[in-house]
Formats: sequence, structure tokens, C-alpha cells
Amino acid sequence: MNDQQLIDEINRLRIEKNAVIMAHYYQQPQLQDIADFVGDSLALAQQAAKTNADIIVLCGVHFMGETAKIICPDKKVLVPDMSAGCSLADSCKAEDLAEWKRSHPNHIIVSYVNTSAAVKALTDVVVTSSNALKIVNQLPQNQPILFGPDQNLGNYINSITGRNMDLWNGACHVHSRFSVQQLLQLKKQYPNAKVLAHPECKKILLELADHVGSTQALLSYAKECGENEFIVATESGILHKMQQACPEKLFIPVPPEASEVMVDGKLTPCSCNECEYMRLNTLQKLYDCLKNESNEILVDNQIANQALKPIQKMLEMSK
Ligand code: 13P
Ligand code: SF4
Repeated sequence: MNDQQLIDEINRLRIEKNAVIMAHYYQQPQLQDIADFVGDSLALAQQAAKTNADIIVLCGVHFMGETAKIICPDKKVLVPDMSAGCSLADSCKAEDLAEWKRSHPNHIIVSYVNTSAAVKALTDVVVTSSNALKIVNQLPQNQPILFGPDQNLGNYINSITGRNMDLWNGACHVHSRFSVQQLLQLKKQYPNAKVLAHPECKKILLELADHVGSTQALLSYAKECGENEFIVATESGILHKMQQACPEKLFIPVPPEASEVMVDGKLTPCSCNECEYMRLNTLQKLYDCLKNESNEILVDNQIANQALKPIQKMLEMSK
């Protein structure tokens, strides 16, 4: 089938099966365009909590599908490619987190949503990049906190809130590889451009940013800000929605350190920083999983019940 036939079939199947298609901003443009809803991690979880669909197809990575399944245990949650993982989530194993907690009995655990269900099950409250500041600010000032797994986000929250959370030593390989040299070069080239950065970026890069926020927050800032040029330091998929929302504005991606890719056997300069896990999902795989109801996310009942509590707490504390 060609792309148009795939799109027609997906449109037929989603009505027939009462399915909703959700996509993260880092998905390839075709998937963002066919989705009923495109959002950041928090918005995807909130949307899952209120959908009436029988099937949720989550075009994103595994932990996003797992979060939707924990919130909606009676629904079928499918992901187009089961191997769409997350290097950050993988850096924190439940048994290691349990050990960390055992050695800090007075601390509570605040976990970034980029974690497995088993890690969430050990967590007191989950946060996303959208609500981490708001939630940490609601916790008693004298409450010691273990925060994981993203050290850059944790450092950023510590710097804004003046807290001293203990941080897990994890990072997203995509956000860690932005080139500071290239960013400085772009700032010279576009002196009026505002720099937008995701809090998973390294401290040195965040210090050069005019606005730090989740993918949704960066998009809203670009729409609302009077400026016309933006240098963007997050996965380059977000540029699709930014450009759609503001066709008259200029969005320039910050290249990664190793900014060359092999094209036809030749090393070719590349300015995009893509998450290879997010990019595993394709239109064909979306069609296949919807048609066959395959790639279903299943979570052990006991883990899901435990993991639901810190997710619900997050949803309440972000209101
Ligand atoms: P957001 O919650 O900002 O969409 O980020 C998710 C993510 O995986 C960032 O790398
Ligand atoms: Fe995980 Fe980084 Fe990919 Fe986000 S961009 S899904 S944090 S590997």
C-alpha cells in the first residue's frame, strides 16, 4: 500500500474499532498529522485519562504506552513498534532504585515519567518536564527527596527551587549531545533569535537558553512570543508542529555534536538531532498494529496498581 492508502485504511479502522491515535511531538510528521491528539508526556497521560475510546494507539515510546495502560487498565493500549524504548528510562532499573531508597530511608522518591512501570511502583510522585517545578514546589521544604533518573532536569529543578534533591546519575542521550559550540555559532548568526531548550539538556546549554520547558511549553512560547526567530534545542520532531503553528516564523534546530550522517556512502552534514527510539514508529507500523490489534502493552496487575498511585498524585498536583 502507498502512504495515501495506508492513511485511508487507518482512518477507516479507527472509526470501526473506536480507536484514538495519540502522538508525541517527537514522532515523524506523518504520524503527528494523522493523530487525533499530539502532546507532551503530561498531555498524553491527561488525554488517556479522559478518552472514551476502546483502543489507544500511542505513537511514542514504551513508557508512554505503559503510563496510558496504567491509567486505563480496561483499554487496549497499542504502540506501533514495541522496541521503541528510552535510554533515560533504561538507565534506572527498579532493583537499583530500591537499593538507593533503602540507603536513604527518610527520603521520598520523585520520578520523572521517563521510567518503567516497576520504577513508578516504587515512586511517591511522578513528574514530567511540564509539571516538575510545580510539583516539587508543593512538597514540604524540609522533605528530603531522591530524584531520578534525569540528572539535568533534577539539577535544573534544584537551581530554580533552591532545593537540594539527591539526583540519579542518568541522562537522555539525545539531549546530552547538543553541540554548545554550534549553538554559540547560531546565536552569532541569528542575534535576534530566542533560544528554546528542553530541561533534559546539559546545564551549560540551559544557561544559554531564553526559555526552558517541556515540548508543549516550548511550542506555546514560540506561538505567544512576539519574536520571529528561534533556535531550538530539543528533538527536532517538535519543529514540525512549531512550523505548522507559526508558518511565518523561522525555527533553527541546534545540531548534535556528531552532526554527520551517512548518505549514499558519504558523510553528509546533518543539523537534526533525532531520537532513534521515537523514530522507530512509522505509518506502516501504525496501520499494522491497529489492524491486527498487536503490540499490546500489558503491565503486571500488582505493579500497575502500585504505579497508578504516584501517577494519580501527579495528575492531581498538576491541576
Ligand atoms: P516532554 O514531556 O517534554 O514531551 O518530554 C518527553 C521526552 O521524552 C523528552 O525527551
Ligand atoms: Fe528517551 Fe531521550 Fe528519546 Fe525522550 S528523547 S524518549 S528521553 S531517549
